[in-house]
Amino acid sequence: MLEFWKKLIESAKDVELVCWDKTGAIPREKFLEMAKGVDGIICMLTEKIDSELLNAAGPNLKVVSTVSVGYDHVDLNELRKRSILLGHTPGVLTDAVADITVLLVLAAARRIREGIRAVESGKWTWSQTWMLGVQFTNKTVGIVGLGRIGSATALRLKPFIGDNGKIIYFGRVEKPIASSLGATKVEFDTLILFKKMKSNVILVNTARGGIIRQDDLCRALSEGMLGSVGLDVMTPEPLNSNDPLLKFDRVIVIPHIGSATLETRTLMANLAIENVLSGVRGETLPHGVKMKKIHTSSHLVSVLHYLIV
Ligand code: GLV
Repeated sequence: MLEFWKKLIESAKDVELVCWDKTGAIPREKFLEMAKGVDGIICMLTEKIDSELLNAAGPNLKVVSTVSVGYDHVDLNELRKRSILLGHTPGVLTDAVADITVLLVLAAARRIREGIRAVESGKWTWSQTWMLGVQFTNKTVGIVGLGRIGSATALRLKPFIGDNGKIIYFGRVEKPIASSLGATKVEFDTLILFKKMKSNVILVNTARGGIIRQDDLCRALSEGMLGSVGLDVMTPEPLNSNDPLLKFDRVIVIPHIGSATLETRTLMANLAIENVLSGVRGETLPHGVKMKKIHTSSHLVSVLHYLIV
């Protein structure tokens, strides 16, 4: 796949490609070294784009193109100061992330990690009350951020909760799509404070690890304030295999693979290439981040789902 994208960039005769083509994220030192003098950078969400990197790149740099929809790894103020454009990959990963969100909700509700462990460790037993999970019918789904991914997730979960289930969401503004989903806007505190949640709530995060205080989450789990948890994102990533989160049977952690389908990653790479080529040519980015807006950490809250039981 990488070869295909390299050829695609190299087919543009006006660019010269310098590429880290080993497996895994580029080591910081190497990134600083390779960025020197370039006009455009394609990066992943593992690469911090900050003043150190921008200084290392130098004055030729016109565009940073991240192969991700989120851009919390990018210091927008530093880009703005230097008039460097930022491209990202919105839209194309909506279905993949909504799918994995639903997968986590279901897996957490039905205690899939515990079930697999029981099978693998020979602890499979049988009783009427063994491995009881949560059924969705008539339940409430709460969503932080009813944007593209949030609404695609709501749409997928709607048939699970049925006609008597409820969808509530928190967002800065009323979302027009809410009425077709039958979703009601509520205050953030109503939706999310651990202490206020029912003790068998299922909490799923597929947005960014930073939007949940993990210490509080562990405390809430130890105090029995939560039912199950499913996380595709966390802090740090990769998560240390000794992290306290992993000690709870009812926490399912997967390695930030929300967008990891061949179809989605192909589309993301294509958008990132379009962005970088436009940027180095001094054209408007087809998928640019609006740099005039004052961004706060609220842009991180793209989707966070939980099911109140
Ligand atoms: C994935 O997390 C992305 O932001 O693309």
